[in-house]
Amino acid sequence: MKSGLEDVIAAETKLSDVDGAAGRLIIRGVSLDDLVATSRFEDVAALLLDGLFDEHIDAASIRTQLGAARVALFPHVEAADAALLALPPVDAVRALLARVADGENFATAIRLMAAPAVFLPAILRLQKGQAPIKPDASLSQSGDILRMLTGRLPTAEQTAGLDAYLVTISDHGLNASTFASRVIASTHAGLTSSVLAAISALKGPLHGGAPGPVLDMFDGVGKPENARAWLSDALDRGERLMGFGHRIYRVRDPRADALKTALKPIFASGQADAGRIALAEAIETAALALLKERKPDRPLDVNVEYYTALLLDALGFPRSSFTGVFAIGRTVGWIAHAREQTLDGRLIRPQSRYVGPLPKAA
Ligand code: CMC
Repeated sequence: MKSGLEDVIAAETKLSDVDGAAGRLIIRGVSLDDLVATSRFEDVAALLLDGLFDEHIDAASIRTQLGAARVALFPHVEAADAALLALPPVDAVRALLARVADGENFATAIRLMAAPAVFLPAILRLQKGQAPIKPDASLSQSGDILRMLTGRLPTAEQTAGLDAYLVTISDHGLNASTFASRVIASTHAGLTSSVLAAISALKGPLHGGAPGPVLDMFDGVGKPENARAWLSDALDRGERLMGFGHRIYRVRDPRADALKTALKPIFASGQADAGRIALAEAIETAALALLKERKPDRPLDVNVEYYTALLLDALGFPRSSFTGVFAIGRTVGWIAHAREQTLDGRLIRPQSRYVGPLPKAA
């Protein structure tokens, strides 16, 4: 048995391919770099969902339908009572998402993609005692998320930065949350159930919960010259360095550099503290050197969460919300995999090997 199912092929997919040795990600035949350079969120959604529903799908109609769905879903925010608002944002989003009726059609898919985009900014504002801001159906998904978060129309650089993030993390092979989505889809439970299971898998710190702690690490280090000593102490305590290491990549995660490129215009135009990039680069250099010394047999490099932390912070998202923003982007991948599983796959029902005690002989 392979611990953690490492290297086990558990599904065939036409959606994305992660090449861990080459550090390459392909989404439906397009390399990540090309995709980020040419696509907004709606484009990658059309690319991933094409052919998986009865409808003809294109980016323009997705944009229109997402806008209408955001507006239609906004009243659900009223269900956010004190108990729900006391939860971490990703848990509160999950609780509201459970109100989206299960189904297998494209309208359900649209509602599921729109729902976290509406719920997360509203929850974040309500948690700060501010009134939630109604969606604007005329805006793109990224533009409206940022407007609902801050109350201001975002700059072109900010909208492009969030689009780059949502495109970059839209799909990534058979990661834990996507596998969870496919398992649920294989029972034909419905897309909402798949997305709820996936979001539950995503929130763990070994998967999508890492970027908040990355920012804690930046704050802990404080100044570039402190990096090596601070990281060394963390490793001495047996801690993992957040934003480093990956189950599949044995080289640099290509998504890290896609995000590093995307965040530069925001910092270069003075819309975020440029000192943060210098600090991040110093920590990265020190961490890579230390990991090489401490774990010479295990190649450990930067993963997507490292520059996610810097980008989402620069866009104004609080660190408590980073996993929720990840969910906004990954929902389309979960839906595409769920549909692929439902259309082409069988019930997922592996075996376990019993290693417990046997009944006592009579
Ligand atoms: N810092 C220090 N040591 C590490 C790290 C790290 N970030 N990652 C792995 N190691 C060590 C680990 O301690 C182990 O050493 P040893 O064999 O001496 O016990 C060895 O490397 C192998 O670790 P593993 O846990 O068997 O590897 P894995 O493939 O199960 O773990 C991982 C992958 C992402 C969970 C892990 O690298 C990690 O915990 N990283 C930090 C958390 C993080 O950044 N998570 C975001 C992942 S990327 C987002 C996504 O695609 O979902």
